[in-house]
Amino acid sequence: MTEAAVPSAQAVVPRPAAMPGLPYFGGIVRMKKDPIGYLREASGRGPVVRLGRLGRRSFYQVNDPDLVRSVMTAPGADVGMTRTSDVLGFLFGESVFTMQGEPWRKRRDELQPAFRTSNLPELFGSAAGEIEQTVEHFQPVAEARGSVDFSAALLDLLQRMIVRMMFGVAVPETAAQLTQAFDYGLAYRQRRRWALTSSLPLWFPTPANRKFDDGVARLNASIVEIIEDHRAHPPQRAGLLTMLMECRDAETGVGWSDDELLAEVKTTFVAGWLTTTTAATWLFDLLARHPEVAARVVAEIDALPSGRPLEYGDLHSLEFVEDTILEAMRLFPPGWLLSRRVRRPFTLGDIPLGPNSVLLVSPYALHRDPTHWNEPDRFDPDRFHSKNHGEAHKAAFLPFGFGPRVCIGRGVAMMELKMIVATLLRRFRFTLADTAPAKLQPVSFLRRADPLILDIAPR
Ligand code: HEM
Repeated sequence: MTEAAVPSAQAVVPRPAAMPGLPYFGGIVRMKKDPIGYLREASGRGPVVRLGRLGRRSFYQVNDPDLVRSVMTAPGADVGMTRTSDVLGFLFGESVFTMQGEPWRKRRDELQPAFRTSNLPELFGSAAGEIEQTVEHFQPVAEARGSVDFSAALLDLLQRMIVRMMFGVAVPETAAQLTQAFDYGLAYRQRRRWALTSSLPLWFPTPANRKFDDGVARLNASIVEIIEDHRAHPPQRAGLLTMLMECRDAETGVGWSDDELLAEVKTTFVAGWLTTTTAATWLFDLLARHPEVAARVVAEIDALPSGRPLEYGDLHSLEFVEDTILEAMRLFPPGWLLSRRVRRPFTLGDIPLGPNSVLLVSPYALHRDPTHWNEPDRFDPDRFHSKNHGEAHKAAFLPFGFGPRVCIGRGVAMMELKMIVATLLRRFRFTLADTAPAKLQPVSFLRRADPLILDIAPR
């Protein structure tokens, strides 16, 4: 055998592109100051980009849709969730959002029937009255040609909608506690998120950790009360909780424990409230900036049977409304950053990654990448029209995630958004009070930094 035929013992290990920054740490600390700018800059540097290091964890951004697909569909033993060990894990408890592996699979299978399409009309019935309440609140302001803090109105409306859909009845006190615990929990998570030094663990009795624990304990107690009350007096209208109480273990036939119900109630509340509020806020912001799109949306809504309230079946004909909602979520995906943790050596494309690697997938960056979208910064709902479908690689559009952990509530979310648009735009005309470009506030969700104030008039 000649020397040239012997394979090199020192094969070159492919390395990802890297973001400039400090030696060893890289540029990741910039995430704290301007995460969107940092991620967009990194998205142009290669299919996988090393962002830097925090403590023992190395961060990579995955930009290539085929590699995104590999990450999001990788076996759970290779690539797991990061949120299990995060503040959200403590807040939610063991729920479909935080679990991994076989226990997650089992929980997701048991939960799936509650979210099936055939349950949507029942949930529609629970939520519709809440939008009417907002209409009543807007009516006198519209008649006086006044303005409304629309983001605050949506926050309130979508909270009432998810509470109704969950419990079938209104529970204002528990809802206020849920809000308080999550506001605190999410702000607390944000403070800990991109810290260069690792924060003290959550079980450590610092005043901040104690305050967080107390809030969660109070919240748990009041939800357990509702669960017990549901058992004793089943409500007339079946909410998601009633549907979850009907879940049975496929093998043993045993129903869920209070702890399991509690975890899923908290998860559904937070996963289904702030995401949808964020999506609706951006949607109305964009409609107010694009009157030509708003006019087509209104024309579609006006073609529905008039003289009676909106019905669930009406939503099926709102195709342009649906395209508009998708386009708003392309430009402003509420879940702007998804993350996964490598659990054992894993090769992504040709790049070998060790445990403690964190893989970031940014729907925001992917949705605005000119390699996948024509004029990506332009608001153009028609790009989702069926004839144009396929403009982008499927994994370059992931407002609801991708693969087995895709959002379980996407049907509920699309229904809520269509209901809100159809009900409000039937009755009112909205215009922007301030046309300055909106600033982004990328926290757990991609919020609008300032309140959305809209001038309102009757139609
Ligand atoms: C516009 C509104 C919504 C958006 C943009 C959204 C987005 C997402 C995304 C991106 C994920 C995947 C996260 C990941 O892969 O790391 C997800 C998961 C999830 N979503 Fe949603 N969501 C919305 C509404 C809802 C609603 C209304 C519910 C419940 C009623 C819900 C419940 C969940 C749950 C339970 C998961 C975890 C699923 C699992 O890990 O198996 N979401 N959502």
